[in-house]
Amino acid sequence: MIDQNIYDNPVFFDGYKELRAREDNYNILVEQPAMTRLLPNLKNKTVLDLGCGYGNSCIDFIEKGAKRVLGIDISERMLTVAKSESSHKDIEYLCMNMAELHLLNEKFDLIYSSLAFHYIENFGSLICDVFHHLNDGGQLLFSQEHPIVTATLDGKGHFNKDANGNLISYSFSNYSESGLRNTTWFVENVIKYHRTIGELLTTIAETGFRIEEVVEPVPEEWALQKRPVLAKEFIKPNFLIIKARKQL
Ligand SMILES: C[S@@+](CC[C@H](N)C(=O)[O-])C[C@H]1O[C@@H](n2cnc3c(N)ncnc32)[C@H](O)[C@@H]1O
Repeated sequence: MIDQNIYDNPVFFDGYKELRAREDNYNILVEQPAMTRLLPNLKNKTVLDLGCGYGNSCIDFIEKGAKRVLGIDISERMLTVAKSESSHKDIEYLCMNMAELHLLNEKFDLIYSSLAFHYIENFGSLICDVFHHLNDGGQLLFSQEHPIVTATLDGKGHFNKDANGNLISYSFSNYSESGLRNTTWFVENVIKYHRTIGELLTTIAETGFRIEEVVEPVPEEWALQKRPVLAKEFIKPNFLIIKARKQL
């Protein structure tokens, strides 16, 4: 299976761009605040951003004191935006499939990835490559879609309501069946990969990482006020974040 490059699909690209332009999207209100909280001190550090998209995080790392940032992404369209909107002399952007990380001849203090690992088929191989591209004591920080979101094979996971129309629970299935999920998001046939939390954590630990934090972020009060519907994140979290360190 060749990794999909769905972000270069023009319909997908436009739909995703519109979503990210909204000031009340889930990234801004739920995922990014948690990721920012988990960032280590970046003063004079080197950072690799896997699936960097528009490069927003790359700029943020520079503003936090990083001395070099390499952002890689499989999508030329995403990188075109990154190069025009998030350029800096200490940031380099490279069009590359992160599944081919072994081709890079450089090590980093932090390897970061926001919402891209669920597109990768071979998680074990990716984590192994990440390990080898970290300096001793370096850290991995990544977010991905929560396995509750990716689990259901027919994509029909759904909320349930009480008699008054209040959301009370979420139904999902196929949790233990790891593997490919063919989903619809802006366009049909968007390929993602489901893995259980046990599988993710065990793979990371067996590779030699010490797992430092596992976070299933929920909206803070300010975010709930901006978008009250986010209260449903307390029933079903959309994101999973893992921070791990390459042992000395
Ligand atoms: C949901 S977007 C997130 C972008 C960015 N990290 C952010 O948070 O704004 C996922 C990104 O991962 C990239 N991506 C997906 N599969 C990839 C792969 N195999 N190698 C590198 N990048 C990939 C996509 O092109 C897209 O830019």
